Amino acid sequence: MPLAEDLRALAIDIAREAGDLARRRRLDGVAIAATKSAVADIVTEADREVEALIRARLAAERPGDGFLGEESGAATSDTDVTWVVDPIDGTVNYAYGIPAWAVSIAAVAGDPRPDAWEALAGVVFSPANGELFHAARGGGAWLAGARLTVNAATPAGALLATGFGYDPATHAGDLARVARVMPLARDLRRIGAASLDLAFVAAGRLDGYFERGLNPWDHAAGALLVTEAGGMIGGAGAGGRPNSDLLVASGAALFERLLTAALGA
Ligand code: IPD
Repeated sequence: MPLAEDLRALAIDIAREAGDLARRRRLDGVAIAATKSAVADIVTEADREVEALIRARLAAERPGDGFLGEESGAATSDTDVTWVVDPIDGTVNYAYGIPAWAVSIAAVAGDPRPDAWEALAGVVFSPANGELFHAARGGGAWLAGARLTVNAATPAGALLATGFGYDPATHAGDLARVARVMPLARDLRRIGAASLDLAFVAAGRLDGYFERGLNPWDHAAGALLVTEAGGMIGGAGAGGRPNSDLLVASGAALFERLLTAALGA
């Protein structure tokens, strides 16, 4: 099996196991263990436990691979492959019982920075409804045996999604960006889990998505779903690639207008 497909198969197995653990912990009741950078930036015991499970499984199956996780930090790679993991993306939804949260696992090659890496495999698993989105580089994006394609047409008004960074100092800029983008929109969603926003763009459930302030683990898997579903990913990083200043995702027909409006250029 080519490397990317191998990595995807492993990520699917581990995401299911991790998602089951997170779902069981949710049924037991969730307590916020700590706030991080801001009051909205929370971590639960489940985030830590689920990331520990994913990290241990990956270390057992592929010792030497690098790791970059939301809760437990980074380990460098001896193999050129790094796993970029958000154990529970949408932690605020998870803590409040809103069923829009996901396990996000990606394998990337090369320099493990979003404006430099080459994504090889990505899985976004939504345990609340059992949907598992997956992609391997060059092999398309998939959900339940069906190949995903982004919305190709430019609708008169696009259904868009965005998110708001945790740092209150950035909120005025976020709202100004929304005001610039709204003329393109039919309506705007704030789903609360970047990996699901991207999976939904890949599946044609959203026409586009934009957000400032994302971390690599929020979008590593979802961005590969979008490109493998025929969509485009860009942002404010080197070569127009996504970085923490901006990520934009959509089908080709909408992309330049959405990127320009989001950048404010
Ligand atoms: C967050 C979610 C949210 C996005 C934030 C992310 P987390 O991830 O994806 O939708 O707006 O920027 O940090 O903290 O729940 O893993």
